[in-house]
Amino acid sequence: MRTVILANELAAAVASAKAAGKKVALVPTMGALHEGHLSLIAQAKKRAEFVVVSIFVNPLQFGQGEDFAKYPRTLEADAKLLAEVSADLLFAPTADVVYPNQVAGATQPAAKSAGPVGEILEGAIRPGHFDGMLTVVARLFDLCQPDIAVFGAKDAQQLFLIRRMAATDYPHLEIIEAETVREPSGLAMSSRNRYLDSEHLELAKQLSAALRFAKQKANTPEQALESARAVMAKSPAAKLEYIALVDCDSFGEIQAGFKGRALLLIAARVGQTRLIDNIEIVF
Ligand code: PAJ
Repeated sequence: MRTVILANELAAAVASAKAAGKKVALVPTMGALHEGHLSLIAQAKKRAEFVVVSIFVNPLQFGQGEDFAKYPRTLEADAKLLAEVSADLLFAPTADVVYPNQVAGATQPAAKSAGPVGEILEGAIRPGHFDGMLTVVARLFDLCQPDIAVFGAKDAQQLFLIRRMAATDYPHLEIIEAETVREPSGLAMSSRNRYLDSEHLELAKQLSAALRFAKQKANTPEQALESARAVMAKSPAAKLEYIALVDCDSFGEIQAGFKGRALLLIAARVGQTRLIDNIEIVF
């Protein structure tokens, strides 16, 4: 598997794949790859003959005091894993390739705005996060020009916003959703799980336990919220940030009497580590 760093190397590799009649899929990541990321690549390989994986820890989507500096960077191990799963190309740009404002004559990529849905839930706790996330995703789409891009259901608000942006700005791009891959304990896999020690891992399990319990018990939205909160109340050392139910179609918080597909979303802090998870519930 080839690794490229520069925009023109990526463009040339994609152009020659397309010239050979191949469909091109992009799997954007921030690296520190785990089984969740690999499942996205497996989805991409089912649908496209040329799979590009990007690894870029995007400074724009980290806020002040967040973990940008200490975010795990494991490029060598990641490249090895990608070769094992037969990805075709690793795009591992430096910041000046993605944001070439320092380069004379280069056009600065347009900043994207996530709008009101970018300001609730994750966006309320991480102001500007979703604007920075959409900006880099748009930039990666522009650089790679994929036919297909794959994202995980684990980051539900992110996926909602990317779908909405793609529908207006990239109408020919197909967005594929891949389901959340979990540890045997139920914990959703995440690059940030490597911050957790064994005590933290015990607490972290509670997030998925709360979601599962709520889905089993709930006939109504109110019951779902109560059940999930009751599980989390048993582990106060996991600092709950929110439990919310949103309409899958609008990401708006659902009202009493709601019927249809909803997402039960949870975020909590375990030690210094923020964890998020979600589950779909049909009412
Ligand atoms: P990152 O956290 O590295 O995740 C990359 C992709 O993997 C995202 O689409 C995410 O939803 C998916 N993913 C993470 N954990 C998963 C799991 N347990 N099961 C299934 N999919 C999982 O999300 C980002 O990076 C960034 O915000 C990015 C989109 C790359 C923009 O910088």
